[in-house]
Amino acid sequence: MPAPKLSVVVTRRLPEVVETRLKELFDVELNETDEPFTRGQLAAAMQRADVLVPTLTDVIDAALLAQAGDKLKLIANYGAGFDHIDVQTARQRGILVSNTPGVLTDDTADMTMALILAVMRGFKKGLHIMESGEWGGWSPTAFLGSRVGGKRLGILGMGRIGQAVARRAKAFGLQIHYHNRKRVHPDIEAELEATYWESLDQMLSRVDILSINCPHTPATYHLLNARRLKLMKKTAYIVNTSRGEVIDENAFTRMLRAGELAGAGLDVFEKGPDVNPRLRELENTVLLPHMGSATEEGRIEMGEKVIINIKTFADGHRPPDQVVPSML
Ligand code: DGY
Repeated sequence: MPAPKLSVVVTRRLPEVVETRLKELFDVELNETDEPFTRGQLAAAMQRADVLVPTLTDVIDAALLAQAGDKLKLIANYGAGFDHIDVQTARQRGILVSNTPGVLTDDTADMTMALILAVMRGFKKGLHIMESGEWGGWSPTAFLGSRVGGKRLGILGMGRIGQAVARRAKAFGLQIHYHNRKRVHPDIEAELEATYWESLDQMLSRVDILSINCPHTPATYHLLNARRLKLMKKTAYIVNTSRGEVIDENAFTRMLRAGELAGAGLDVFEKGPDVNPRLRELENTVLLPHMGSATEEGRIEMGEKVIINIKTFADGHRPPDQVVPSML
């Protein structure tokens, strides 16, 4: 008799091909409405499923994990970031956690470059005047932005995405500087002509653009606090396609309003969609709704990764993208 299929609960709508394949392989419950699960729905799903497929909109903390059923053995996150999951507690309770790294690297790096260009070249003003129909024609002194080429880009977090940003930025003539927990391999530094800064503070005071590409962990929460932000040049720009929690958003907003920073391109916010209204009002910001990895191809590849992680687990092996607390 064939082994019973694993019961899998998926908390959000996924691309159709991914849902179809999940249905073929597992005893799957899909979320047809795409409404994020309430905490109660999440707790109930964790009681009845062998495998939960959450996304970054599901906060899976110690209290929720304490209510999980004995059946729950794998949380196969649909997404690379796993800061919404208490991996340490999951591990203590014998629940594996996996994610989907690698497949959203290029899309996120593309979006980082798009934000650098958008904020430095004043897309917001340009779009606004075109959409309002008020454009009166070309003028030598209108819409002057800041040249991108030749500037110093500081990359905070030189993992896969940071390196992909550096490759693109180099092609735009930017000089690459970076701060990372660990210095990257000398071959990568040589390829990117990248300067390593052991001290984040020192790097901050020297760069013209800062790109945040590190994950949100207890160590990076508000890494860019008011003190560090004040080290930056008044003419500097910040771009964030990682997680909003890395910046103290209130301090940052105050500084942008006071002209103590030149501008910001942000795809992520400290409180998700609850964006500080003062940030939205500013002329020198370009804000996007967490769409850095949002391509059709990327979302399907993320689903394929989830399926491989569950399938490998079902076959009695460790999921290839298992995350462990030491990665925090
Ligand atoms: C992730 O996968 O963590 C991304 O932030 C989703 O865009």
